[in-house]
Amino acid sequence: MAEAFNSKRLPAAKADRYAEVAGEIAAVLKGEPNLTARMATVAAMLSQSFQRFFWIGFYLVDLTRPDELVIGPYQGSLGCLRIGLGQGVCGRAAAERRTIIVPDVDAFPGHIACDSRSRSEIVVPVFGARGRLTGVLDVDSTELDAFDEVDAEWLERILAQAFGDNASLT
Ligand code: SME
Repeated sequence: MAEAFNSKRLPAAKADRYAEVAGEIAAVLKGEPNLTARMATVAAMLSQSFQRFFWIGFYLVDLTRPDELVIGPYQGSLGCLRIGLGQGVCGRAAAERRTIIVPDVDAFPGHIACDSRSRSEIVVPVFGARGRLTGVLDVDSTELDAFDEVDAEWLERILAQAFGDNASLT
């Protein structure tokens, strides 16, 4: 039950915390087939679990405009509504279908500043059934160098669990 989720009781060590949150997310998503509900839940639970996540949300492939990503469920200040494929960190991660860690957004050519307080970010592609690209998950921090391989590995795992081929939708 979502009501039972208490982020204050999570372990302090990052990998342990991710492992616990991954289990909690799977439990809450169980039986929910709606994609928007699943994305909103992932964004909310990760946001509550990690204080350094200043902004977290999904940018989705827009089937009516395939060369653009459009904003999906998110937690944080107002996000840009659309990002061209290949543009910014999100568009690049989507176009290249790979996770991108940006330790300093000012050093990333073409970075899109939706909120100037963001200093570093990680963008992870989201793959749906049969490896189809659904969009990306963007996580921003107000601290420089806030994300590393542990974040990449666990966010990829959580997204595969929630949206990938073996996601339990029923
Ligand atoms: N910084 C992102 C844009 C999205 S916002 O930060 C919410 C980018 O360069 O793609």
